[in-house]
Amino acid sequence: MTKGEDLAMKKRFSEEQVAFTLQRQAVTGIPENTHLIKRKIIKFINQICKNLLPQSYYSRIKLIYYTLQSNNYDLSKDLEHNENLFKKFNFDIEKIKQKLNSLNFSYHDDWLSWHYHLFIGLKDYFEDKKINILEIGTASGTFTNFISKVYDDHQITTISLDENEIPLTEFGGDEERKRKFLELRNKNLNRKNINFVKSNSIHIKKYFYGKKFDLIWVDGDHLNPQVTIDIVNSLDLLNNDGIICTDDVIMDIEREKNTYISNEGFLTLKHFGDNKILKNEYLIKRISKSNSITKKHVSISTFENNSKFIVN
Ligand SMILES: C[S@@+](CC[C@H](N)C(=O)[O-])C[C@H]1O[C@@H](n2cnc3c(N)ncnc32)[C@H](O)[C@@H]1O
Repeated sequence: MTKGEDLAMKKRFSEEQVAFTLQRQAVTGIPENTHLIKRKIIKFINQICKNLLPQSYYSRIKLIYYTLQSNNYDLSKDLEHNENLFKKFNFDIEKIKQKLNSLNFSYHDDWLSWHYHLFIGLKDYFEDKKINILEIGTASGTFTNFISKVYDDHQITTISLDENEIPLTEFGGDEERKRKFLELRNKNLNRKNINFVKSNSIHIKKYFYGKKFDLIWVDGDHLNPQVTIDIVNSLDLLNNDGIICTDDVIMDIEREKNTYISNEGFLTLKHFGDNKILKNEYLIKRISKSNSITKKHVSISTFENNSKFIVN
C-alpha cells in the first residue's frame, strides 16, 4: 500500500467513525464524549464492586443502580424520536393509534414493541398490491396473528424451529409450559392467510427458491453467524421495492453480547449501508424506562435505489 493509499484509508475510517458517532448521538441524545467517559467510569466501578463485594451485596447494589437510573430516564425524547421517524415516512399516526385500539393494543403501552406500530404504518406504502410477508422467528405466533389481521388480504409466511429444536430456555425446560406454548401457537397461527413453516431459517433460500417477498421481519436468532445469514438471505428474497425490518437491534458497538442479544445484526446492516446497498433507519423498540439499561431498536431498511419508499 502506498503512503497516499494508506492516508486515504485512514481518512475514510475516521470519517466513518465520526458518522457513526453522530448517528448514535442522534439516537441517544447524549454527547458522545460524555457518553464514553461516563461508561468507562461505570465499567470501572462495576468491576471493583464485582471483585470486592460478596455476590449478594453486588446484586443488590446493581439493582439499586438500575432502579435509580431508570427513574431519571426521560421517555419523551424516545417518543419524539419514533414519531419524528414516522413523520419522515409519511405515516398517519392517528390511524396507527386507532388500528392498535381496534385490535386491543395500546399505542402508549410501554411494553408494546414498536414493530406493532411500524407494521400498521407500513401498510399504506404497499397501497393496493397483494403482498407476501415473511417472518423469521415465530415464537408463540402473537405477532404473526396480529399482522395476519392488519394485512388480512395478504399472505403471511412464518418460519421457526421445530418444537424439538427450540432452546429449552423458551419454556424453562418445563413440559407443561411447552404444552401451553404449543397450544397458544397453534391458536394464533390458525388463520387462513398464515402459512407456518417448521424449519431452521438457515434453509430459507433453498426452501423459498424462486419466491420473492415484499416485507420481511427478521426476528429469529439474534447472534452471529445466524443473524447475518438471515439478513443476507432475506435480501436475496426481497423484491426491489420491498422492506426488511429486524428486531432487537443493539446499536452500541461496545456492548458485549449475551446468549440472546448482540450488536451483530446492527453491524451487518451498517456494513450494507456503508456500501450503499441499504438505507437504514432505527426506531426505539419500547418507550419504556427499561431502555435506560439496554437500548434496543427495530431497524427499517430498503434497497439504496428504492425511490418508492420516500423518507422526507
Ligand atoms: C424473538 S422470538 C420471535 C418473536 C416474534 N417474531 C414476535 O415478533 O413476537 C424468536 C423465535 O425465533 C426462533 N428461532 C431462533 N433461531 C432460529 C432459527 N435459526 N431458525 C428459525 N427460528 C429460529 C426461536 O425459537 C423463537 O421462537
